[in-house]
Amino acid sequence: MSFRLVVLVSGSGTNLQALLDASADEAFGARVVAVGADRDGIEGLTRAERADVPTFVQKVGDHATREKWDEALTAQIAEFKPDLVVSAGFMKILGPRVLGSFSVVNTHPALLPAFQGAHAVREALSYGVRVTGCTVHLVDAGVDTGPVIAQEAVAVQDGDDEESLHERIKTVERRLLVEIVGRMARDGWTVSGRTVRLGRAGNRS
Ligand code: GRF
Repeated sequence: MSFRLVVLVSGSGTNLQALLDASADEAFGARVVAVGADRDGIEGLTRAERADVPTFVQKVGDHATREKWDEALTAQIAEFKPDLVVSAGFMKILGPRVLGSFSVVNTHPALLPAFQGAHAVREALSYGVRVTGCTVHLVDAGVDTGPVIAQEAVAVQDGDDEESLHERIKTVERRLLVEIVGRMARDGWTVSGRTVRLGRAGNRS
């Protein structure tokens, strides 16, 4: 039985698409069983529908409080019994219920802990760094503060604007996310403090 992924999206969903494409090969060891969003009408949901993957939408504004939203999102994710939840461009901070119920990984378009938050690419550019990149990390209660699993660097080029730099980062991000999620599915992982190791204990790569 393959490892079950629920992917959360808020936008174009190209990272989701990379996971959907990877899942087509059984050797990947994981498949996307549902896609959740915090808003309607986004390309990420269309990509899921095209792949015949069930979708759900939980908007914060449809709930009386953020806690109720957290509860509803947890219940909806739980229906799909995921082994791992992947936040792939999901632009909401997950609440304690979701985080207490599932392992969650996130992909972030900067080399954490630099440039946490929603405007990482813009802030890296305006700071003037020459190298930025992307990070796949476990999600904890903070904003982009969870233990790092993997990172890859991307050089800033003269003349880059936010869009061109983000596109180059996303090309790397999609490959890294697929690689890491696949390894987590096939080989498992252990966490000790802030150190995440892929592979089972005694079989560490
Ligand atoms: C990615 O760069 C992700 O790290 C950031 O938003 C982007 C989402 O892209 N939070 P997509 O929706 O997967 O195309």
